[in-house]
Amino acid sequence: MNKEKYHKREGFSSSIGVIAAVLGSAVGLGNIWKFPYVTGANGGAAFILVYLLCLALVGIPVMLSEHLIGRHTKANAVGAFKALQPRRPWFLVGGAGVLSAFLIMAFYTTVAGWVYAYIFKAAGGALLTANPEDTSLVFNTLVSGVGEPLFWQIFVLLVTGTIIMAGVTKGIERVTKVLMPLLFVLLIIMDIRSLTLPGAGEGLAFLFKPDFSKITVGVILAALGLAFFKLSVGMGAMITYGSYISKNENLPKMAIRVALADTLVSLMAGIAIFPAVFAFGFKPDAGPSLLFITIPTVFNAMPFGRVFMALFFVLTAIAATGAMLSLLEVPVAYLTEQYQWTRRKATLVTILGIGSLGSTATLSNSILAKVTVFGRTFFDFFDFTTSNVLLPIGGIFIALFVGWQWGYANVKQEMSNDGQLKNDQLVRIYMFLVKFIVPIAIVLVLLAGLDLIKPIISFINQ
Ligand code: PFF
Repeated sequence: MNKEKYHKREGFSSSIGVIAAVLGSAVGLGNIWKFPYVTGANGGAAFILVYLLCLALVGIPVMLSEHLIGRHTKANAVGAFKALQPRRPWFLVGGAGVLSAFLIMAFYTTVAGWVYAYIFKAAGGALLTANPEDTSLVFNTLVSGVGEPLFWQIFVLLVTGTIIMAGVTKGIERVTKVLMPLLFVLLIIMDIRSLTLPGAGEGLAFLFKPDFSKITVGVILAALGLAFFKLSVGMGAMITYGSYISKNENLPKMAIRVALADTLVSLMAGIAIFPAVFAFGFKPDAGPSLLFITIPTVFNAMPFGRVFMALFFVLTAIAATGAMLSLLEVPVAYLTEQYQWTRRKATLVTILGIGSLGSTATLSNSILAKVTVFGRTFFDFFDFTTSNVLLPIGGIFIALFVGWQWGYANVKQEMSNDGQLKNDQLVRIYMFLVKFIVPIAIVLVLLAGLDLIKPIISFINQ
């Protein structure tokens, strides 16, 4: 590898900074918007249990794999595979990751735009109503518009682009370090309010009392997809962030901590939302609109609701922004390192591309509502194919690469920080997971969930 480049590369400057940035990537709309609505649509507590299983057996090992590869090679998602296996096509896994980053950003910026817009709606008092029909109306008017949601999407892209141009330490690290603790405190306040609503018990039972008859293969696929999306894994974002992590960090410990903290935030968002859903007679399976129509009612029922609601959307916007920084960093690191573009040029080209593609997701609720790709609107298509197809497939290859190509000796060296950490047992468990459990589990879930088993069986029977 080019030594010069190695030394000039930026990196996270402190342990706290690393944790904040990695957690900043994981925590985002996934916790506050997606986790509640996917949980609501898939039956509640039983889904959460499957999700936790997917996190432990698949999500955490893939995150660790990405950090190991990234830190070892100090390169972007494509460059990392090229550095380790210059003669084999493994770099395509990184290439698919860059594509996934684009596709996720396409719909993520739509939702982030709604969140930014809600800050102003909340502050202006438009959302302070106890009537569920009013909150639904505000949401539907926003998303079925053209100019307003597009404006906010572009705004979001400009904000994230500006931070990314500032670089890793001054941009990413500085911003994420402040927001995480703040978000946490606000969620605690909201949980207290939500839990003291009359009828809160039903919401809690929905979240924590599993009904196993609700588990189908579709539910398992959704849980697996959510685990990938939540931990930002399967697409090289964690390879890229791993490349900025110093040699002293304890990587397995960090992956576990991040997953735990991230899950806590998701559950806290669930506790803020579901009691209100039941208390005010909403349906838990409302889908992507869930957050936007239920949260206002929680705030409406508390003192200083308007101030707290605006603050809540500010923090959600910041959390979404932290996650988007890691998404943008994937193509930006790729373009700057593989093609020697400047950071500025790489960022501008990337946000221009995402803006063009993303506008189709934003307009999926208005003028493009009838246009479908494989039976889904652009928005749903980007959402479904990334979480439920591309990220899990990326995860298979990342695990196979580390387990079977890179191999035990290299993994051991990287995971023990060149022998400083005595974690032999952990290395063995991890190797077993990435060699067997992760790929097999994902293949089975994908085959079943995407309904590909029947055609395969009938093909074999022919
Ligand atoms: N983990 C983020 C969330 O849950 O909101 C979404 C995400 C960020 C996915 C970064 C993928 C990624 F690379």
